[in-house]
Amino acid sequence: MSEPSHLAALTGVSKRFHRGPETVHALRSVSFAVDAGELVGVVGPSGSGKTTLINMLCGWEHPDEGEVSWMGTSPDMARLGWDQIAVVPQRLGLLDELSLADNIGLPLMLAGQKSRRRAGRVREVIELLELGSLADRRPRQVSFGEQQRTALARALVTAPRLVIADEPTGHQDKTREATIFGAFRAAVSSGAACLVATHSQRAIAQLDRMVEMEDGEIVGERR
Ligand SMILES: Nc1ncnc2c1ncn2[C@@H]1O[C@H](COP(=O)(O)OP(=O)(O)OP(=O)(O)O)[C@@H](O)[C@H]1O
Ligand SMILES: [Mg+2]
Repeated sequence: MSEPSHLAALTGVSKRFHRGPETVHALRSVSFAVDAGELVGVVGPSGSGKTTLINMLCGWEHPDEGEVSWMGTSPDMARLGWDQIAVVPQRLGLLDELSLADNIGLPLMLAGQKSRRRAGRVREVIELLELGSLADRRPRQVSFGEQQRTALARALVTAPRLVIADEPTGHQDKTREATIFGAFRAAVSSGAACLVATHSQRAIAQLDRMVEMEDGEIVGERR
């Protein structure tokens, strides 16, 4: 019997970047998988390859060697929507022309969901991430930490099977960090997987599994 496919996996993935005469080995033959129902962290020093690993898993970068798969197929073939895989990039990518609520509702709007139903779900994730009083503001009118929580709300709004977040608590206080990890835990309890790059010791304590990176390699894994 064949093994069930992972939600997302990298197999022997290497990635090099060229900067003038210099070659940066951002990933060196990395193999790694995420399964349903787990909260996984990627930790490691700045420049160790966490964002590159995440960009590979999202299908935003292509490996020089190795393979990326989503639910057993290649990202190009899979063409999965936001309801399958949702990402919180390190640079957030909020649209400044839209209010926080409209940014959060965008994946549902693009999926064709009717406005009344959409508004109900948007309200739920706004409450979950404690953005209630800010919903009508534009991203530039709120703090960076609030923008981060907005980007996370936008990722969670579709209840995706896999949530990938790059340093989602970098600008949060202790209480808000707990709020964010509470939201990840709720998603995991309902069967999703969450993959989070983080530097935070408090966040590490919340993980089911942790992958440690150094200089483009996975150097340790702990449960
Ligand atoms: N587009 C690029 N061109 C050249 N070098 C790059 C590029 N993207 C990343 N790198 C390099 O690849 C290495 C890994 O970078 P990456 O962004 O994955 O690190 P990181 O672990 O996410 O760091 P941080 O904790 O600071 O976010 C670094 O040395 C970085 O300078
Ligand atoms: Mg990074």
